[in-house]
Amino acid sequence: MRKPFVAGNWKMNKTVDQATLLVADMLPGLEAVKTVDRVVCPPATSLMVISGMLAGTEVGLGAQNLHWEESGAFTGELSPAMVKEFCQYVIIGHSERRAYFGDTDETVNKKTKAAFAIGLTPIVCVGETLAEYEAGKTGAVVERQVKEGLKDIDPKTAEKLIVAYEPIWAIGTGKAAGPEEANDVIGNVVRKNLAGMFGNDVAQMIRILYGGSVKSENAGEFFHQSDIDGGLVGGASLKAGDFVKIVEAAA
Ligand code: 13P
Repeated sequence: MRKPFVAGNWKMNKTVDQATLLVADMLPGLEAVKTVDRVVCPPATSLMVISGMLAGTEVGLGAQNLHWEESGAFTGELSPAMVKEFCQYVIIGHSERRAYFGDTDETVNKKTKAAFAIGLTPIVCVGETLAEYEAGKTGAVVERQVKEGLKDIDPKTAEKLIVAYEPIWAIGTGKAAGPEEANDVIGNVVRKNLAGMFGNDVAQMIRILYGGSVKSENAGEFFHQSDIDGGLVGGASLKAGDFVKIVEAAA
C-alpha cells in the first residue's frame, strides 16, 4: 500500500510575510491528516522561515528547483546542500522550468541524482504539451521523460522517488485531465516504464501524483483512481481551506 502524498507548489507567489500567514492558516488542518504525506513548496526566500514553523510537525517542506553542482559560479542557483539545510523534498523538471528556463531530460537526470545524493526526495515532473496531446504523442513523450530523466538511478534509491504527471494543457487552465485518462497514463506509461527500469516491486512502491487544475471539488475523483497516489497542486495550494480539503480528500 502506497501512502497518499499531496504537495502544494506555490510557484512564484507569496512574500515571506504572506507565506508565514498562509502556513499558519493551513497548519492545524494539515497536521490533523496523519494518513497522508503532505508537503508545501514555497519560493526559496521563505524556506528558512517556514522550516522553523514546520519543525516538530509532520508537514514536509520542498524547494521548487535546485542545481546539480555542489558550489561555484552559477548565479541565481541553489545547491543541493543549500536546499537540504531547510527541505526534505525538491520539485525537479516542472514543465514551467522546462518551458522557460531550459530544463531538459538530461538536466532533470542530473538534478534528480544530486537530490538523492544529498538525501532529498525528488518530486520529478513529466507531462506532454497540448500539441503533443492532440497529436496522440502523450505516451511517447512521457515514456521518454521517464526513461531519460530517471536513468542510471539505483533501484533501491528509486523506491523513494515521487513522480508527478502533469499534462501541460491542464496546468492553471481550469481544464483538468479526465481522471481515467490521467490514471491510464500514470499506470500504463509511467508505472509501466518504472517497472521496466527498476523492477515491478520498486515500481509498486513509487508514489505517482497527478497535477493540473486539481481543486477541492475534483480531487477525490483523481485520488480514487488505482494508480494515482496523490496530487501536485498549484493554484489551489495558495488557499489554506482548499489545500486542506484536497489533503483530506487524499485520506
Ligand atoms: P495548477 O494546480 O494551478 O493547475 O498547477 C499545477 C501545477 O503545475 C503544480 O505543479
